[in-house]
Amino acid sequence: MGREHLLGIEGMPAERIKLILDTAESFKEVLERPIRKVPTLRGVSVANLFFEPSTRTRVSFELAEKRLSAELVNVSAASSSVLKGETLKDTARNIEAMKVDIVVIRHSAPGAPHFLARCLESSVINAGDGAHEHPTQALLDLLTLRERFGELKGLRVVIVGDITYSRVARSNIWGLKRMGASVALCGPPTLMPLRVEGMGVEVYHNLDQALQGADVIYVLRLQLERQKEGLLPSLREYTNQWGITAQRLTKLKQKFIIMHPGPLNRGIEITPEVADGPYSVILDQVTNGVAVRMAILYLLSGGKVEG
Ligand code: NCD
Repeated sequence: MGREHLLGIEGMPAERIKLILDTAESFKEVLERPIRKVPTLRGVSVANLFFEPSTRTRVSFELAEKRLSAELVNVSAASSSVLKGETLKDTARNIEAMKVDIVVIRHSAPGAPHFLARCLESSVINAGDGAHEHPTQALLDLLTLRERFGELKGLRVVIVGDITYSRVARSNIWGLKRMGASVALCGPPTLMPLRVEGMGVEVYHNLDQALQGADVIYVLRLQLERQKEGLLPSLREYTNQWGITAQRLTKLKQKFIIMHPGPLNRGIEITPEVADGPYSVILDQVTNGVAVRMAILYLLSGGKVEG
């Protein structure tokens, strides 16, 4: 069997998604034990390359690796002045020299993990590449939804906010559609990708309409730097039109849950009352992140562990 990677959700078969979620569920059981550590990946070495800021994803990968007893190194590359192609090539050579089994990479350039996968012997995991994909986030979201609803098929998920620049939205759209959920997107026209309907989603520009009948309201972080680019009139205007507030939610008749990948801009895309309220599963998402990443590390190094 050749090396396997986790580069994206696009094109991932439903059986593969299901296998990852089932495996993650069994690791959740490990995480509930008094000693949350198993020897499964003893002798497997992992390099975490984070070229972009990250708290949740980085800590989550690191905990997953430690709880599986893998050997890990953290390479944080704050070398924004170096050309991206050169940096990556250099990185790849260094990793090769260190004989690392699995490389976890977050990079601002879309396709960076794919590039490493082509030039390395290691398995590569995409921890977020530009505005392209964030597959482990989508998988932990799918696990959270499956736990809540029993199954993903038939769910109506409304993703709200900055869609264009969101790798979280993109990976979730692929994953949710593949598992039979329906996806609606809602946000300002300046933050909605052109021809996105081609991904099999509905597009709304009126939030109250979009939220009708939603089982899941998935709120995205407003990337505040967009404001400087003139894509938003003002923050107050954004909150008025697209903010998820308790007042807006009281108009809904159905049951629903609130998700957010973090980090939150409290008071901008979501009010603290909603983020910390009874409908929110935001911290369950974070908990599930560790189990999902353990499952992925385990599945990608399966051959080696048995050998
Ligand atoms: C996201 C990311 O970095 O893609 N955060 C995360 O990994 N949980 C979302 C974001 O930054 O908005």
